[in-house]
Amino acid sequence: MKFLPLDAPGILELAAGWIEKKENYQWLDFGGAGHRVTPMLLKILAQSKTHFLRVYTSERDDNPIGIVALNGVDRTSNTATFWGAAGDKSFRSRGYGTLAASRFMTIAFRDLGLYSVNTWVAEGNPSLKIIERAGFCFIGRQRQCHYIDGRPHDRLLFDLLASEHKEYEDDRWHRIEDRRNDVHRKGAMNFGRGAASSH
Ligand SMILES: CC(C)(COP(=O)(O)OP(=O)(O)OC[C@H]1O[C@@H](n2cnc3c(N)ncnc32)[C@H](O)[C@@H]1OP(=O)(O)O)[C@@H](O)C(=O)NCCC(=O)NCCS
Repeated sequence: MKFLPLDAPGILELAAGWIEKKENYQWLDFGGAGHRVTPMLLKILAQSKTHFLRVYTSERDDNPIGIVALNGVDRTSNTATFWGAAGDKSFRSRGYGTLAASRFMTIAFRDLGLYSVNTWVAEGNPSLKIIERAGFCFIGRQRQCHYIDGRPHDRLLFDLLASEHKEYEDDRWHRIEDRRNDVHRKGAMNFGRGAASSH
């Protein structure tokens, strides 16, 4: 998995396209502008000192499949707020979101030198699992503050200290990739057999 900067028009357009989907922006907070997050806005955020944005790739190639980010990067208190979204649906629920979150925290603590990263998850969002697996600690609940389709949801608040961070270890994506390769290998073998028997 690689983490790439949002520094090319193609990547900015791709990432903006992911965020403007309701399935993503409904769980995020762009001040009500989620569906209007443009490549230009992402470019401005990517260049600002208070944000740190990266797209992540699969293990297979360098195509971006999701975005992870830190908002409110504060170099005095060494804190920031984490969020992310998966882009390419075919890679969903295969462990990439968890892997990206956990490895991104390593970058936040080791490379950026942050001490504490916080995040929140609107109640009902299945991505809660990712935050828990990445080791975030539940610190409270902000009630009735997140609106989806006009209905208020609580936000569950979490934080993670540099001293607590341990990169998440899980071989699910390797197993999935292995299984896919097996299927492709068997398919190729069957194809080979089919082709041979048809002559
Ligand atoms: C959060 C998100 C990036 C997860 O990406 P992902 O690559 O599917 O993540 P993982 O494969 O690591 O998923 C971890 C677990 O959460 C579950 N999950 C995550 N998002 C889910 C969704 N939208 N629907 C159902 N289950 C979901 C997965 O099934 C998986 O559980 P499992 O391992 O028990 O099967 C993606 O769902 C997304 O873009 N959601 C919308 C934006 C969002 O909610 N961001 C989080 C706010 S910080």
